[in-house]
Amino acid sequence: MKVALVLFVTSTVYLAAALPAPSASPRFVQVPAGDDEVVTVDLEAEPDYKFLNDVARNPRNAYILFTRRNPHNGQTLILNDANSIRNSNFNPAHTTIAIAHGYIQSQNSNLNQIIRDAYLNRMEANVIVLDWSRISQMDYMTAIYAIPSVGQGLGNLLNFISTVTGAPLTNMHVTGFSLGSHVAGNAGRTIRGLARVTGLDPYSPVWNLNSNRLAASDAVYVEAIHTSGNTGNRLFADVDYFVNGGDNQPGCWTSICSHNRSWEVFAATVTFNHLHGNQCTNVAEMRNNQCRGSQLPLGNSDVNKRGSGIFRVNTGANFPY
Ligand SMILES: *[C@@H]1O[C@H](CO)[C@@H](O)[C@H](O)[C@H]1NC(C)=O
Repeated sequence: MKVALVLFVTSTVYLAAALPAPSASPRFVQVPAGDDEVVTVDLEAEPDYKFLNDVARNPRNAYILFTRRNPHNGQTLILNDANSIRNSNFNPAHTTIAIAHGYIQSQNSNLNQIIRDAYLNRMEANVIVLDWSRISQMDYMTAIYAIPSVGQGLGNLLNFISTVTGAPLTNMHVTGFSLGSHVAGNAGRTIRGLARVTGLDPYSPVWNLNSNRLAASDAVYVEAIHTSGNTGNRLFADVDYFVNGGDNQPGCWTSICSHNRSWEVFAATVTFNHLHGNQCTNVAEMRNNQCRGSQLPLGNSDVNKRGSGIFRVNTGANFPY
């Protein structure tokens, strides 16, 4: 299948397809694509099976390490190549944080740099940026089908690093943005015992019937930070945070702006650990902004964070929110 068959960039298609019975699952959905675009995706499109087979045989994802000793020039880590780990600045005494970008994005998307710098300014850490752009830049359904294998690759790498250096999985945290949330979940699911997974705005109707989505069992502690399009329709994690109700963010006029707010608030909480959610008894309370339960910090850099439930966090429009 060709990319052009799958990505309809006109909203006309979406509107026409959305007209049937309101309860029916829509066939065409709008999804954030890359940095500034929204595209319409046909959920019944066939993925590119030939490409998927090739990816399964030869996944060419890249893992790039940054530490305080090399904050800007990454070192490439290679699965099953122990020297690539031993000769790098990876330090098993420090917390490891891995970052999985979203659809169309790559290692050059600035969420990687902003989250990386927030960590390295706050603490000694091994920051591993996953580049899965060869797959994330395919058509949407092919990318969706490949997500488990991308996540397994990252999980296997973390496990390999643990074997080579002795770094415990209990000191590792995987975070992912958008489709990358599900890469992060699958990474945790591969290895069992990973300390923490953070899904940054994981919701899309694509995942309603797909068991490969981010789940609470993917790590010891799993959290999701919802900022666009999810007002409690679906829960994913031990803790589901709904920022300002989980849909439109203050100061935003587009859904991409609200979507991006998930990694922007996460990076801000790594720096300041200043935002707190209040627990809600149910989704209706969350929507009505009536949550009065106990408080839990949003995001932050604590690899051993714990919690469970639905939380609402209200923020301002400007950094650090
Ligand atoms: C969203 O974030 C990306 C970086 O990941 C950035 O390039 C883009 O400009 C942002 N878009 C909006 C609308 O804020």
